[in-house]
Amino acid sequence: MIATTIPPGMSPSTYAHRSVTGRNLISIQDFLPEELSCALELAAAMKVRPSDFRGTLVGKQIVLFFEKPSLRTRLTFEAGINSLGGVAFFVDQTQSRMGERESLSDVARNLERWVDGIVLRTFAHETVTTIAQYASIPVINALSELEHPCQAMADMLTLQQHFDDLRDVKLAYIGDGNNMAHSLMLAAASLGASISVATPKGYEPSSTVTNAAMELAASTGASVRVLNDPAEAVAGADAVYTDVWASMGQEDEADERRQIFAPYQVNRKLFSHAAKHAIFMHCLPAHRGDEVSASVIDSPRSVVFDQAENRLHVQKAILVLLLEGGVHRFPPRSANA
Ligand code: CP
Ligand code: NVA
Repeated sequence: MIATTIPPGMSPSTYAHRSVTGRNLISIQDFLPEELSCALELAAAMKVRPSDFRGTLVGKQIVLFFEKPSLRTRLTFEAGINSLGGVAFFVDQTQSRMGERESLSDVARNLERWVDGIVLRTFAHETVTTIAQYASIPVINALSELEHPCQAMADMLTLQQHFDDLRDVKLAYIGDGNNMAHSLMLAAASLGASISVATPKGYEPSSTVTNAAMELAASTGASVRVLNDPAEAVAGADAVYTDVWASMGQEDEADERRQIFAPYQVNRKLFSHAAKHAIFMHCLPAHRGDEVSASVIDSPRSVVFDQAENRLHVQKAILVLLLEGGVHRFPPRSANA
């Protein structure tokens, strides 16, 4: 596990000032840059002193609807909610899409009467935005076809713990311009990091998200590049990130994509273009021999399990911030903490 330090001067009251109570986290863009930083600070504090935060979700009930499979997201939400004293209900929605049995607006209007928060993993991004439109309680995007904000925030925490200041970090994302690419571009841009994305032609990130990330970057001093040459994107990078070539729901395109994406595999040769100290990142699940070689993902440079661990800490921070309005209830830091 990586050593984690509490940012100097950080205290419970600091967090309480930065309330995002009652809001949603559907896109990275739902948090201002300073709110994103605050969530990462809180997650770092929760990682170091989890016992200080026990009880911060007592009395809160959160429902999780998942239309797609999950290991990390489901378990880190359930374990995180449990460790904060809240209660999680998991609804397996893999057999039918939300909105098929009854309208999404009716689902939302039911849920808001019973629970305090909604976590959604969906195919259509619009399912998440529609539930959020009709529910008066916080909605968290646990992956849609457009974004995976919780993962990207955990990844930013991982980068911060390796390199301290995100404004000095050069991240390369190689592969499909998918949900992961979108949230990483927005998170890097918001937090001042540089990101270079390399995809095959025709698989670039959405131009709307790219423009939004570039606009954000202009205000934070970050840089966002979208390229087609993987070696150019990786050159001098501090971290090289990849994701599956066929996302959940694209399984029937897997064979075709395997041919198209082959030059984008993160293997020793491509990784050698990165900085000497570079780390390898992947949100998982990974397919060794496709988007990444075993020689890279199973090497000492790989931080994929640090990323997976940080899902827990980041999601706990997100839940406390959205459901509690800051962490004013957690006990003051004791002298010997
Ligand atoms: N990275 C991630 O979201 O993993 P799961 O699909 O297992 O939740
Ligand atoms: N892009 C991948 C991410 C999995 C965590 C997918 O949507 O399947």
